[in-house]
Amino acid sequence: MSIPIYTYDAIVVGAGLAGCAAARELQNAGKKVAVITKLHPLRSHSGAAQGGINAAFSDEDSVELHEFDTVKGSDYLADQDAVEFMCQKAPQTIRWAERMGAAFSRTPDGKIAQRPFGGQSSPRACFAKDRTGLTLLQTIYEQAHRAGVKFWDEWYAADIIYKDGKVSGVVAFNIRDMQTVIFNAKSVMFATGGYARAYKINSNAHANTGDGLSIVARHGLPLEDMEFVQFHPSGLSGNGVLISEAARGEGGRLFNSEGERFMEKYAPNALELASRDVVARAILNEIREGRGVGPRKDAVYLDVTHLGKELIMNKLPELRELAITFLGLDMIKEPILISATAHYSMGGIPVNIAGNVRKNNDELVEGFYAAGECSCVSVHGANRLGANSVLEALLFGRFVGKTMVSEIDNIELRPATQDDASTALAEIDFIIGNNGDERVPALREELQQCMTANAGAFRSKETLQIAIDTIKSIRKRYQNIRIQDKSKIFNTELQEAMEFGHMLDYSAFIVESAIARNESRGAHFREDFDTRNDEEFLKHTMAYMDENGAVSLDYMDVILGKHELKARTY
Ligand code: FUM
Repeated sequence: MSIPIYTYDAIVVGAGLAGCAAARELQNAGKKVAVITKLHPLRSHSGAAQGGINAAFSDEDSVELHEFDTVKGSDYLADQDAVEFMCQKAPQTIRWAERMGAAFSRTPDGKIAQRPFGGQSSPRACFAKDRTGLTLLQTIYEQAHRAGVKFWDEWYAADIIYKDGKVSGVVAFNIRDMQTVIFNAKSVMFATGGYARAYKINSNAHANTGDGLSIVARHGLPLEDMEFVQFHPSGLSGNGVLISEAARGEGGRLFNSEGERFMEKYAPNALELASRDVVARAILNEIREGRGVGPRKDAVYLDVTHLGKELIMNKLPELRELAITFLGLDMIKEPILISATAHYSMGGIPVNIAGNVRKNNDELVEGFYAAGECSCVSVHGANRLGANSVLEALLFGRFVGKTMVSEIDNIELRPATQDDASTALAEIDFIIGNNGDERVPALREELQQCMTANAGAFRSKETLQIAIDTIKSIRKRYQNIRIQDKSKIFNTELQEAMEFGHMLDYSAFIVESAIARNESRGAHFREDFDTRNDEEFLKHTMAYMDENGAVSLDYMDVILGKHELKARTY
Protein backbone atom coordinates (compact mmCIF):
# COMPACT_ATOMS: atom_id res chain seq x y z
CA MET A 1 0.00 0.00 0.00
CA SER A 2 1.46 3.36 -0.88
CA ILE A 3 2.17 5.91 1.83
CA PRO A 4 0.61 9.36 1.45
CA ILE A 5 3.05 12.21 0.81
CA TYR A 6 1.95 15.62 2.10
CA THR A 7 3.89 18.66 0.97
CA TYR A 8 4.53 21.76 3.09
CA ASP A 9 7.01 24.63 2.94
CA ALA A 10 8.19 23.83 6.45
CA ILE A 11 7.71 21.15 9.07
CA VAL A 12 8.31 21.80 12.75
CA VAL A 13 8.61 18.78 15.04
CA GLY A 14 7.60 19.60 18.63
CA ALA A 15 5.00 22.06 19.91
CA GLY A 16 6.61 23.54 23.00
CA LEU A 17 7.72 27.16 23.20
CA ALA A 18 10.43 26.85 20.52
CA GLY A 19 8.26 24.95 18.04
CA CYS A 20 5.18 27.15 18.41
CA ALA A 21 7.24 30.36 18.21
CA ALA A 22 8.98 29.22 15.00
CA ALA A 23 5.78 27.97 13.39
CA ARG A 24 4.02 31.27 14.05
CA GLU A 25 6.84 33.19 12.34
CA LEU A 26 6.65 30.93 9.30
CA GLN A 27 2.87 31.08 9.07
CA ASN A 28 2.79 34.86 9.46
CA ALA A 29 5.31 35.13 6.61
CA GLY A 30 2.88 33.27 4.36
CA LYS A 31 4.62 29.90 4.45
CA LYS A 32 2.65 26.67 4.61
CA VAL A 33 3.77 25.11 7.86
CA ALA A 34 2.80 22.03 9.85
CA VAL A 35 3.72 21.21 13.45
CA ILE A 36 4.02 17.52 14.27
CA THR A 37 3.75 16.70 17.96
CA LYS A 38 3.39 13.45 19.84
CA LEU A 39 1.33 15.26 22.50
CA HIS A 40 -1.32 17.92 22.49
CA PRO A 41 0.75 21.16 22.31
CA LEU A 42 -0.42 22.29 25.74
CA ARG A 43 0.99 19.08 27.24
CA SER A 44 4.48 19.98 25.97
CA HIS A 45 7.12 20.06 28.69
CA SER A 46 7.69 23.83 28.29
CA GLY A 47 4.47 24.08 30.29
CA ALA A 48 6.21 22.49 33.28
CA ALA A 49 8.71 25.35 33.63
CA GLN A 50 7.80 26.98 36.90
CA GLY A 51 10.09 29.69 38.13
CA GLY A 52 10.73 32.28 35.44
CA ILE A 53 12.28 33.67 32.29
CA ASN A 54 15.35 35.91 32.48
CA ALA A 55 15.77 39.38 31.07
CA ALA A 56 17.90 42.24 32.35
CA PHE A 57 15.74 45.36 32.37
CA SER A 58 15.63 46.70 35.92
CA ASP A 59 17.66 49.79 36.86
CA GLU A 60 20.01 47.67 39.02
CA ASP A 61 20.68 45.13 36.26
CA SER A 62 22.31 45.20 32.82
CA VAL A 63 22.58 43.03 29.72
CA GLU A 64 26.31 42.79 30.34
CA LEU A 65 25.74 41.39 33.84
CA HIS A 66 23.28 38.85 32.41
CA GLU A 67 25.94 37.83 29.89
CA PHE A 68 28.59 37.59 32.58
CA ASP A 69 26.42 35.49 34.90
CA THR A 70 25.52 33.17 32.03
CA VAL A 71 29.13 32.68 30.94
CA LYS A 72 30.34 32.21 34.51
CA GLY A 73 27.45 29.82 35.20
CA SER A 74 28.42 27.85 32.09
CA ASP A 75 31.90 27.36 33.57
CA TYR A 76 33.17 29.25 30.51
CA LEU A 77 32.08 26.61 28.00
CA ALA A 78 29.23 28.69 26.52
CA ASP A 79 29.83 30.34 23.16
CA GLN A 80 29.98 34.00 24.04
CA ASP A 81 28.58 35.26 20.72
CA ALA A 82 25.43 33.19 21.29
CA VAL A 83 25.21 34.34 24.92
CA GLU A 84 25.45 37.99 23.83
CA PHE A 85 22.72 37.46 21.24
CA MET A 86 20.42 35.86 23.80
CA CYS A 87 20.99 38.38 26.60
CA GLN A 88 20.67 41.39 24.31
CA LYS A 89 17.40 40.14 22.84
CA ALA A 90 15.94 39.01 26.20
CA PRO A 91 14.17 42.28 27.18
CA GLN A 92 12.44 42.60 23.80
CA THR A 93 11.43 38.92 24.01
CA ILE A 94 9.61 39.59 27.30
CA ARG A 95 7.85 42.63 25.81
CA TRP A 96 6.92 40.61 22.74
CA ALA A 97 5.48 37.79 24.90
CA GLU A 98 3.59 40.33 26.97
CA ARG A 99 2.09 41.99 23.89
CA MET A 100 0.92 38.58 22.73
CA GLY A 101 -0.98 38.21 25.98
CA ALA A 102 1.31 36.59 28.56
CA ALA A 103 0.12 37.68 32.01
CA PHE A 104 3.27 38.14 34.10
CA SER A 105 3.11 38.74 37.85
CA ARG A 106 3.44 42.44 38.74
CA THR A 107 5.08 44.62 41.37
CA PRO A 108 2.76 46.87 43.41
CA ASP A 109 3.58 49.75 41.02
CA GLY A 110 2.60 47.72 37.96
CA LYS A 111 5.99 46.67 36.59
CA ILE A 112 6.74 43.08 35.57
CA ALA A 113 7.93 41.40 38.77
CA GLN A 114 11.37 39.75 38.82
CA ARG A 115 12.73 37.31 41.38
CA PRO A 116 16.28 36.21 42.26
CA PHE A 117 17.51 32.91 40.81
CA GLY A 118 20.73 30.98 41.40
CA GLY A 119 24.04 32.24 40.05
CA GLN A 120 22.63 35.65 39.06
CA SER A 121 23.77 39.06 40.25
CA SER A 122 20.33 40.65 40.23
CA PRO A 123 16.65 39.61 40.48
CA ARG A 124 16.12 38.84 36.80
CA ALA A 125 13.57 36.07 36.42
CA CYS A 126 10.23 37.46 35.20
CA PHE A 127 7.47 35.14 36.32
CA ALA A 128 3.81 34.30 36.35
CA LYS A 129 3.44 33.02 39.92
CA ASP A 130 5.09 29.57 39.74
CA ARG A 131 3.56 28.58 36.41
CA THR A 132 5.59 30.74 34.04
CA GLY A 133 6.09 28.08 31.35
CA LEU A 134 2.41 27.23 31.21
CA THR A 135 1.42 30.89 30.91
CA LEU A 136 3.86 31.40 28.04
CA LEU A 137 2.96 28.13 26.32
CA GLN A 138 -0.77 28.93 26.40
CA THR A 139 -0.02 32.36 24.94
CA ILE A 140 2.27 31.26 22.13
CA TYR A 141 0.15 28.23 21.22
CA GLU A 142 -2.96 30.44 21.04
CA GLN A 143 -1.14 32.88 18.79
CA ALA A 144 0.26 30.17 16.51
CA HIS A 145 -3.20 28.63 16.26
CA ARG A 146 -4.75 32.02 15.57
CA ALA A 147 -2.20 32.62 12.78
CA GLY A 148 -3.43 29.41 11.12
CA VAL A 149 -0.60 26.97 11.86
CA LYS A 150 -1.71 23.38 11.18
CA PHE A 151 -1.02 21.18 14.23
CA TRP A 152 -0.73 17.42 13.77
CA ASP A 153 -1.37 16.43 17.40
CA GLU A 154 -0.55 12.91 18.57
CA TRP A 155 1.60 12.18 15.55
CA TYR A 156 4.97 10.58 16.21
CA ALA A 157 7.90 11.72 14.05
CA ALA A 158 9.95 8.56 13.48
CA ASP A 159 12.59 9.69 10.98
CA ILE A 160 13.91 12.56 8.90
CA ILE A 161 14.51 12.37 5.19
CA TYR A 162 18.22 13.11 4.96
CA LYS A 163 20.38 12.67 1.86
CA ASP A 164 23.48 14.35 0.53
CA GLY A 165 23.71 16.90 3.32
CA LYS A 166 20.11 18.04 2.99
CA VAL A 167 16.91 17.38 4.96
CA SER A 168 13.69 17.35 2.96
CA GLY A 169 11.01 16.07 5.27
CA VAL A 170 9.86 13.84 8.08
CA VAL A 171 8.27 10.40 8.28
CA ALA A 172 5.58 10.26 10.97
CA PHE A 173 2.75 8.05 12.11
CA ASN A 174 -0.58 8.76 13.69
CA ILE A 175 -0.51 7.44 17.25
CA ARG A 176 -4.25 6.81 17.04
CA ASP A 177 -4.18 4.27 14.18
CA MET A 178 -0.56 3.89 12.98
CA GLN A 179 -1.28 5.55 9.65
CA THR A 180 2.17 6.49 8.27
CA VAL A 181 2.68 9.69 6.27
CA ILE A 182 5.68 11.28 4.54
CA PHE A 183 5.80 15.02 5.17
CA ASN A 184 7.84 16.48 2.34
CA ALA A 185 9.16 20.01 2.87
CA LYS A 186 11.89 22.47 1.91
CA SER A 187 12.87 22.89 5.52
CA VAL A 188 12.47 21.04 8.79
CA MET A 189 12.95 22.27 12.33
CA PHE A 190 13.44 20.07 15.40
CA ALA A 191 12.13 21.47 18.67
CA THR A 192 11.74 18.09 20.31
CA GLY A 193 12.71 19.07 23.86
CA GLY A 194 14.75 17.45 26.59
CA TYR A 195 15.67 13.93 27.54
CA ALA A 196 16.26 13.49 31.26
CA ARG A 197 14.06 10.35 31.23
CA ALA A 198 17.29 8.41 30.86
CA TYR A 199 17.62 8.89 34.63
CA LYS A 200 15.51 7.16 37.27
CA ILE A 201 14.96 10.29 39.36
CA ASN A 202 14.12 13.16 37.03
CA SER A 203 11.85 16.17 36.76
CA ASN A 204 10.85 15.50 33.15
CA ALA A 205 7.57 14.56 31.52
CA HIS A 206 7.18 10.94 30.36
CA ALA A 207 7.42 12.22 26.80
CA ASN A 208 10.98 13.55 27.22
CA THR A 209 12.70 10.60 25.61
CA GLY A 210 15.15 12.38 23.34
CA ASP A 211 13.62 11.08 20.10
CA GLY A 212 14.90 14.03 18.07
CA LEU A 213 18.50 13.53 19.12
CA SER A 214 18.57 9.86 18.33
CA ILE A 215 16.86 10.34 14.96
CA VAL A 216 19.54 12.87 14.01
CA ALA A 217 22.40 10.73 15.35
CA ARG A 218 21.24 7.65 13.43
CA HIS A 219 21.97 9.57 10.24
CA GLY A 220 25.59 10.03 11.28
CA LEU A 221 25.10 13.65 12.34
CA PRO A 222 26.84 14.88 15.51
CA LEU A 223 25.54 15.63 18.99
CA GLU A 224 27.36 18.27 21.01
CA ASP A 225 28.37 18.39 24.70
CA MET A 226 26.16 15.49 25.71
CA GLU A 227 28.10 14.86 28.92
CA PHE A 228 26.58 17.97 30.52
CA VAL A 229 23.37 16.89 32.24
CA GLN A 230 21.90 19.29 34.79
CA PHE A 231 20.73 18.02 38.18
CA HIS A 232 18.25 20.48 39.65
CA PRO A 233 18.80 20.87 43.40
CA SER A 234 15.17 20.55 44.38
CA GLY A 235 13.15 17.60 43.20
CA LEU A 236 10.57 16.13 45.54
CA SER A 237 12.10 13.31 47.52
CA GLY A 238 11.44 9.92 45.98
CA ASN A 239 10.09 10.97 42.60
CA GLY A 240 12.11 14.01 41.46
CA VAL A 241 9.09 16.20 40.62
CA LEU A 242 10.33 19.78 40.26
CA ILE A 243 10.10 22.20 43.17
CA SER A 244 11.12 25.41 41.48
CA GLU A 245 14.24 27.34 42.35
CA ALA A 246 11.68 30.11 42.93
CA ALA A 247 11.29 28.63 46.44
CA ARG A 248 14.94 29.47 47.16
CA GLY A 249 14.71 32.67 45.08
CA GLU A 250 11.95 33.89 47.38
CA GLY A 251 14.13 33.07 50.42
CA GLY A 252 13.86 29.31 51.03
CA ARG A 253 16.68 27.69 53.04
CA LEU A 254 18.25 24.24 53.02
CA PHE A 255 19.01 22.25 56.20
CA ASN A 256 20.57 18.86 56.92
CA SER A 257 19.77 16.35 59.68
CA GLU A 258 21.88 18.33 62.14
CA GLY A 259 19.85 21.48 61.60
CA GLU A 260 22.82 23.02 59.80
CA ARG A 261 22.24 25.52 56.96
CA PHE A 262 24.87 23.60 55.04
CA MET A 263 25.19 25.90 52.00
CA GLU A 264 27.29 28.16 54.26
CA LYS A 265 30.09 25.61 53.79
CA TYR A 266 29.78 25.26 50.02
CA ALA A 267 28.91 28.76 48.78
CA PRO A 268 29.42 31.25 51.64
CA ASN A 269 28.27 34.25 49.62
CA ALA A 270 25.45 33.01 47.41
CA LEU A 271 24.28 30.24 49.80
CA GLU A 272 21.12 28.56 48.40
CA LEU A 273 21.39 30.77 45.31
CA ALA A 274 24.71 29.49 44.05
CA SER A 275 24.53 27.95 40.59
CA ARG A 276 22.54 24.74 40.26
CA ASP A 277 25.45 22.36 39.86
CA VAL A 278 27.03 23.67 43.08
CA VAL A 279 23.81 23.41 45.15
CA ALA A 280 22.89 19.98 43.72
CA ARG A 281 26.30 18.53 44.56
CA ALA A 282 26.20 20.08 48.04
CA ILE A 283 22.85 18.38 48.75
CA LEU A 284 24.08 15.02 47.46
CA ASN A 285 27.27 15.37 49.45
CA GLU A 286 25.34 15.99 52.67
CA ILE A 287 23.33 12.84 51.99
CA ARG A 288 26.41 10.79 51.10
CA GLU A 289 28.11 11.85 54.32
CA GLY A 290 25.15 10.67 56.40
CA ARG A 291 23.38 13.96 57.10
CA GLY A 292 20.30 13.19 55.01
CA VAL A 293 16.74 13.40 56.34
CA GLY A 294 13.44 11.64 55.67
CA PRO A 295 12.50 7.98 56.04
CA ARG A 296 15.29 6.84 53.69
CA LYS A 297 17.74 9.58 54.73
CA ASP A 298 18.05 10.48 51.05
CA ALA A 299 16.81 14.08 51.20
CA VAL A 300 17.45 17.44 52.85
CA TYR A 301 14.95 19.97 54.18
CA LEU A 302 13.78 22.90 52.09
CA ASP A 303 12.22 25.35 54.52
CA VAL A 304 10.03 28.26 53.40
CA THR A 305 7.86 28.49 56.53
CA HIS A 306 9.44 31.84 57.51
CA LEU A 307 8.13 33.40 54.26
CA GLY A 308 4.58 33.23 55.55
CA LYS A 309 1.28 32.01 54.13
CA GLU A 310 0.52 35.10 52.08
CA LEU A 311 3.75 35.04 50.09
CA ILE A 312 3.55 31.28 49.56
CA MET A 313 -0.06 31.44 48.39
CA ASN A 314 0.69 34.38 46.09
CA LYS A 315 3.96 33.31 44.58
CA LEU A 316 4.41 29.58 45.13
CA PRO A 317 0.92 28.05 45.12
CA GLU A 318 1.69 25.20 42.70
CA LEU A 319 4.77 24.16 44.65
CA ARG A 320 2.71 23.93 47.81
CA GLU A 321 0.12 21.78 46.02
CA LEU A 322 2.80 19.46 44.67
CA ALA A 323 4.39 18.90 48.08
CA ILE A 324 0.99 18.23 49.65
CA THR A 325 -0.03 15.85 46.85
CA PHE A 326 3.15 13.79 46.68
CA LEU A 327 4.59 14.03 50.20
CA GLY A 328 1.65 15.07 52.37
CA LEU A 329 3.72 18.03 53.58
CA ASP A 330 2.34 21.58 53.66
CA MET A 331 5.20 24.03 53.12
CA ILE A 332 3.28 26.77 54.91
CA LYS A 333 3.56 24.75 58.11
CA GLU A 334 6.67 22.58 57.77
CA PRO A 335 9.86 22.01 55.78
CA ILE A 336 9.56 19.67 52.79
CA LEU A 337 11.93 16.90 51.65
CA ILE A 338 13.92 17.47 48.47
CA SER A 339 16.97 16.15 46.66
CA ALA A 340 18.70 16.59 43.30
CA THR A 341 16.81 15.46 40.21
CA ALA A 342 17.93 15.07 36.57
CA HIS A 343 16.37 18.13 34.98
CA TYR A 344 17.95 19.53 31.85
CA SER A 345 20.48 18.73 29.18
CA MET A 346 22.92 21.40 28.12
CA GLY A 347 24.03 19.36 25.10
CA GLY A 348 22.09 18.47 22.01
CA ILE A 349 21.86 18.89 18.24
CA PRO A 350 24.62 21.38 17.35
CA VAL A 351 23.39 24.58 15.71
CA ASN A 352 24.82 27.98 14.85
CA ILE A 353 23.20 31.16 16.21
CA ALA A 354 20.79 31.27 13.27
CA GLY A 355 19.60 27.76 14.12
CA ASN A 356 21.14 25.84 11.19
CA VAL A 357 22.09 22.29 12.21
CA ARG A 358 25.78 21.46 11.92
CA LYS A 359 26.87 18.51 9.81
CA ASN A 360 30.32 18.70 11.41
CA ASN A 361 32.64 21.43 12.73
CA ASP A 362 32.74 23.20 9.37
CA GLU A 363 29.58 22.41 7.41
CA LEU A 364 25.85 22.94 7.89
CA VAL A 365 22.97 20.69 6.88
CA GLU A 366 20.78 22.31 4.23
CA GLY A 367 17.12 22.81 5.20
CA PHE A 368 17.54 21.62 8.78
CA TYR A 369 17.18 23.70 11.94
CA ALA A 370 16.81 23.15 15.69
CA ALA A 371 16.02 25.20 18.78
CA GLY A 372 15.19 24.74 22.45
CA GLU A 373 16.42 22.01 24.75
CA CYS A 374 17.06 19.46 21.99
CA SER A 375 19.62 21.85 20.48
CA CYS A 376 23.04 23.08 21.56
CA VAL A 377 23.75 26.62 20.39
CA SER A 378 25.60 26.78 23.02
CA VAL A 379 24.36 29.39 25.49
CA HIS A 380 24.51 27.17 28.58
CA GLY A 381 27.93 25.55 28.18
CA ALA A 382 28.57 23.16 31.06
CA ASN A 383 25.81 24.42 33.36
CA ARG A 384 22.63 26.37 32.67
CA LEU A 385 21.34 29.15 34.88
CA GLY A 386 17.75 28.79 36.03
CA ALA A 387 15.24 30.75 33.89
CA ASN A 388 17.62 30.86 30.91
CA SER A 389 15.98 27.82 29.28
CA VAL A 390 12.50 29.28 28.88
CA LEU A 391 14.26 32.32 27.46
CA GLU A 392 16.35 30.23 25.10
CA ALA A 393 13.36 28.24 23.84
CA LEU A 394 11.12 31.23 23.19
CA LEU A 395 13.81 33.53 21.85
CA PHE A 396 15.72 31.12 19.64
CA GLY A 397 12.48 29.43 18.54
CA ARG A 398 11.26 32.75 17.23
CA PHE A 399 14.55 33.77 15.61
CA VAL A 400 15.12 30.36 14.03
CA GLY A 401 11.64 30.71 12.55
CA LYS A 402 12.80 34.00 11.05
CA THR A 403 15.95 32.32 9.67
CA MET A 404 13.79 29.66 8.05
CA VAL A 405 11.60 32.34 6.46
CA SER A 406 14.66 34.11 5.06
CA GLU A 407 16.25 30.93 3.67
CA ILE A 408 13.25 28.95 2.47
CA ASP A 409 12.88 30.55 -0.94
CA ASN A 410 16.45 29.59 -1.81
CA ILE A 411 15.88 25.93 -1.00
CA GLU A 412 14.67 23.64 -3.73
CA LEU A 413 12.08 21.06 -2.71
CA ARG A 414 13.49 17.58 -3.23
CA PRO A 415 10.42 15.44 -3.99
CA ALA A 416 9.98 12.55 -1.56
CA THR A 417 9.64 8.94 -2.65
CA GLN A 418 8.10 5.87 -0.99
CA ASP A 419 11.62 4.69 -0.18
CA ASP A 420 12.05 7.57 2.24
CA ALA A 421 9.77 5.78 4.72
CA SER A 422 11.61 2.48 4.57
CA THR A 423 13.77 2.91 7.71
CA ALA A 424 10.81 4.00 9.86
CA LEU A 425 8.63 1.18 8.54
CA ALA A 426 11.37 -1.39 9.15
CA GLU A 427 11.70 -0.20 12.74
CA ILE A 428 7.96 -0.50 13.32
CA ASP A 429 7.90 -3.96 11.70
CA PHE A 430 10.81 -5.10 13.85
CA ILE A 431 9.12 -4.01 17.09
CA ILE A 432 5.71 -5.45 16.20
CA GLY A 433 7.04 -8.65 14.67
CA ASN A 434 9.86 -9.52 17.08
CA ASN A 435 9.04 -12.34 19.49
CA GLY A 436 11.95 -12.41 21.93
CA ASP A 437 11.79 -12.62 25.68
CA GLU A 438 12.95 -9.17 26.82
CA ARG A 439 10.40 -6.58 28.02
CA VAL A 440 10.96 -2.88 27.41
CA PRO A 441 9.85 -1.63 30.88
CA ALA A 442 12.40 -3.93 32.55
CA LEU A 443 15.21 -2.83 30.24
CA ARG A 444 14.26 0.83 30.73
CA GLU A 445 14.34 0.41 34.51
CA GLU A 446 17.85 -1.07 34.25
CA LEU A 447 19.05 1.76 32.04
CA GLN A 448 17.60 4.48 34.28
CA GLN A 449 18.99 2.94 37.48
CA CYS A 450 22.38 2.54 35.83
CA MET A 451 22.48 6.14 34.55
CA THR A 452 21.49 7.53 37.96
CA ALA A 453 24.07 5.41 39.78
CA ASN A 454 26.95 5.74 37.33
CA ALA A 455 26.54 8.82 35.12
CA GLY A 456 24.88 11.16 37.60
CA ALA A 457 25.96 14.31 39.42
CA PHE A 458 29.14 12.49 40.56
CA ARG A 459 30.93 10.21 38.10
CA SER A 460 34.34 8.67 37.56
CA LYS A 461 36.10 6.64 34.90
CA GLU A 462 35.14 3.50 36.77
CA THR A 463 31.42 4.28 37.10
CA LEU A 464 31.18 5.55 33.53
CA GLN A 465 32.76 2.33 32.28
CA ILE A 466 30.04 0.40 34.12
CA ALA A 467 27.46 2.59 32.36
CA ILE A 468 29.06 1.98 28.95
CA ASP A 469 29.12 -1.78 29.48
CA THR A 470 25.52 -1.80 30.71
CA ILE A 471 24.27 0.23 27.75
CA LYS A 472 26.07 -2.10 25.32
CA SER A 473 24.56 -5.14 26.96
CA ILE A 474 21.04 -3.63 27.03
CA ARG A 475 21.44 -2.67 23.37
CA LYS A 476 22.05 -6.33 22.52
CA ARG A 477 19.09 -7.43 24.62
CA TYR A 478 16.90 -4.83 22.89
CA GLN A 479 17.26 -6.96 19.75
CA ASN A 480 15.37 -9.64 21.66
CA ILE A 481 12.33 -7.62 22.80
CA ARG A 482 8.70 -8.54 22.50
CA ILE A 483 5.66 -6.33 22.89
CA GLN A 484 2.29 -7.83 23.68
CA ASP A 485 0.07 -5.32 21.93
CA LYS A 486 0.23 -6.06 18.20
CA SER A 487 -2.73 -3.79 17.36
CA LYS A 488 -2.72 -0.53 15.45
CA ILE A 489 -4.94 1.47 17.79
CA PHE A 490 -3.14 3.68 20.31
CA ASN A 491 -0.28 1.22 20.49
CA THR A 492 1.61 2.95 23.27
CA GLU A 493 3.67 -0.18 23.86
CA LEU A 494 5.09 0.16 20.36
CA GLN A 495 5.73 3.86 20.88
CA GLU A 496 7.48 3.21 24.19
CA ALA A 497 9.70 0.61 22.54
CA MET A 498 10.73 3.15 19.89
CA GLU A 499 11.31 5.78 22.55
CA PHE A 500 13.43 3.37 24.53
CA GLY A 501 15.59 2.72 21.47
CA HIS A 502 16.20 6.47 21.36
CA MET A 503 17.04 6.59 25.07
CA LEU A 504 19.67 3.91 24.56
CA ASP A 505 21.27 5.91 21.75
CA TYR A 506 21.60 9.22 23.53
CA SER A 507 22.60 7.59 26.83
CA ALA A 508 25.59 6.15 24.97
CA PHE A 509 26.45 9.70 23.85
CA ILE A 510 26.23 10.98 27.44
CA VAL A 511 28.57 8.37 28.91
CA GLU A 512 31.08 8.19 26.03
CA SER A 513 31.41 11.98 26.02
CA ALA A 514 31.71 12.02 29.83
CA ILE A 515 34.39 9.34 30.08
CA ALA A 516 36.63 11.22 27.66
CA ARG A 517 36.35 14.53 29.50
CA ASN A 518 39.01 14.12 32.17
CA GLU A 519 38.12 17.23 34.14
CA SER A 520 35.26 18.68 36.19
CA ARG A 521 33.35 21.55 34.63
CA GLY A 522 29.85 22.76 35.51
CA ALA A 523 27.46 19.88 35.80
CA HIS A 524 30.07 17.33 34.74
CA PHE A 525 31.84 16.38 37.98
CA ARG A 526 34.51 13.69 37.74
CA GLU A 527 35.60 12.46 41.16
CA ASP A 528 38.86 11.28 39.60
CA PHE A 529 39.57 14.67 37.94
CA ASP A 530 37.95 17.14 40.30
CA THR A 531 39.14 20.44 38.81
CA ARG A 532 38.56 22.31 35.56
CA ASN A 533 41.31 21.85 32.99
CA ASP A 534 41.14 24.69 30.47
CA GLU A 535 44.37 23.72 28.82
CA GLU A 536 43.03 20.40 27.59
CA PHE A 537 39.25 20.67 27.77
CA LEU A 538 38.10 24.18 26.97
CA LYS A 539 36.37 22.70 23.94
CA HIS A 540 33.00 21.35 22.87
CA THR A 541 32.56 17.62 22.42
CA MET A 542 31.19 16.60 19.01
CA ALA A 543 30.12 12.95 19.09
CA TYR A 544 29.06 10.70 16.20
CA MET A 545 27.41 7.28 16.18
CA ASP A 546 27.97 4.58 13.57
CA GLU A 547 25.38 2.05 12.35
CA ASN A 548 26.40 -0.39 15.11
CA GLY A 549 25.81 2.16 17.84
CA ALA A 550 29.52 2.83 18.48
CA VAL A 551 30.21 6.46 19.45
CA SER A 552 33.34 8.32 18.33
CA LEU A 553 34.44 11.76 19.49
CA ASP A 554 35.72 14.94 17.95
CA TYR A 555 36.04 18.42 19.47
CA MET A 556 35.12 21.95 18.41
CA ASP A 557 36.49 25.30 19.61
CA VAL A 558 34.59 27.36 22.16
CA ILE A 559 33.83 30.90 20.98
CA LEU A 560 35.38 33.12 23.64
CA GLY A 561 34.71 36.82 24.12
CA LYS A 562 34.97 39.69 26.54
CA HIS A 563 34.31 37.60 29.67
CA GLU A 564 37.69 36.21 30.59
CA LEU A 565 38.27 32.80 32.10
CA LYS A 566 38.30 32.82 35.90
CA ALA A 567 37.95 30.35 38.73
CA ARG A 568 34.23 30.01 39.46
CA THR A 569 33.23 30.74 43.06
CA TYR A 570 29.88 31.70 44.59
O1 FUM B 1 13.42 25.93 39.16
C1 FUM B 1 12.78 26.22 38.16
O2 FUM B 1 11.78 26.93 38.21
C2 FUM B 1 13.29 25.75 36.88
C3 FUM B 1 13.54 26.66 35.98
C4 FUM B 1 14.46 26.34 34.91
O3 FUM B 1 14.88 25.18 34.78
O4 FUM B 1 14.85 27.26 34.19
